[in-house]
Amino acid sequence: MPDSEAGGVFSGFDPARVPSPCYVIDLVKLEENLRILARIAAEAEVEVLLALKAFSCFAVADLIGAYLQGTAASGLWEAKLGRTRFKGAVHTFAPGLKPDHLGEIEDLSDHLIFNSAGQWSRYRDLVSVDGRCAYGLRINPRHSEAETPLYDPCAPWSRLGVPPGQIREDGLAGISGFHLHALCDQGFAPFDRLLSATERTFGEHFGAIDWINLGGGQLLTAGDYPVADLIKRLRSFRTDTGLRTYLEPGTAVALNAGALVTEVLDTGWNEGHFAVVDCSATCHMPDVIEAPYTPEVLGGETISQAGAAEAEDPGVLRLGGPTCLAGDVIGTYRFENGPAVGDRLMVLDQAYYTMVKASTFNGTPLPAIALWDRHGDTVRIVKQFGYETFESRLS
Ligand SMILES: Cc1ncc(COP(=O)(O)O)c(C=O)c1O
Repeated sequence: MPDSEAGGVFSGFDPARVPSPCYVIDLVKLEENLRILARIAAEAEVEVLLALKAFSCFAVADLIGAYLQGTAASGLWEAKLGRTRFKGAVHTFAPGLKPDHLGEIEDLSDHLIFNSAGQWSRYRDLVSVDGRCAYGLRINPRHSEAETPLYDPCAPWSRLGVPPGQIREDGLAGISGFHLHALCDQGFAPFDRLLSATERTFGEHFGAIDWINLGGGQLLTAGDYPVADLIKRLRSFRTDTGLRTYLEPGTAVALNAGALVTEVLDTGWNEGHFAVVDCSATCHMPDVIEAPYTPEVLGGETISQAGAAEAEDPGVLRLGGPTCLAGDVIGTYRFENGPAVGDRLMVLDQAYYTMVKASTFNGTPLPAIALWDRHGDTVRIVKQFGYETFESRLS
């Protein structure tokens, strides 16, 4: 029996039911996550938006819209996706806002957040003042909690948001809210510290604004997340400040709700046993290489340090993708049986930051997308990609 939450979700799924490779979303797990987020929204009296950058599979937009208040977009195209394919409000923040996108973003968005005081001062005379879109400023409380600089918007020299002490008295004219984001896959304690740091560094301006967006980066739907503590903290923050408050999780929405089905194409030995599969770390789950981390594979024990003993063990297999990149490695795993050529495997927890980042490097096909209803045990393949997707992006 798999020990992870995602493993528990997918242990009943037969990967032969979908084409390979294929991202499979379990609607039951997705809805469980959404219920937790809806409880946070209701009990803390905050609004929760899906960060589209993490997960924007609009085949599940109705389900998401039944629980969340809208979407958070990273620029014009996500704002358009949020407005046309999803439900609820659209809040847009783009670190590099282009002048020719401004009008359309404003039409699509309920909130438009500027990244710097300079950007706001350049745009403030260009924005429409019809009151349909509210304007905000991203702040950077310079409080680092993220473990690696790659995911730390508060690291020195960060371009993300206005640091403390740089907002001039007249700089907030026309601005009705603040936005911040400074966490990555973290729990309540880092959030609590971040919020306290924000109160310390930007609290003097809270009287001049109406709302604050506290970003994402929390594993709100993980089994061990103390939801009640968060609700209490947010309630007291709201009582103290009177600010309308938003959260914009991405990962937490789809946490453990997806798996990437893959098929073994070849096996071999080179100082250790390996298998080539038809999904790729670099094309289909780039965070495996960028973060980096080793995803779980159903039925495989993850080996973090493979030495001579593991190399000799016929049950230990290093899985790698079908591309030319030597480092296109998913991980090393100990299996009880096989897997052999033609077997199907499931790489777990692959819904977020996967479909949205997937590429066709080496002409690697994009995985299909399927929805699985674990309770009804129905599978619906909602998307398959052909050669034309690859070709159409090249000229
Ligand atoms: C501004 C902003 N909001 C929300 C998120 C979503 O974060 P997560 O998916 O970790 O919850 C991110 C992630 O990078 C972000 O940059």
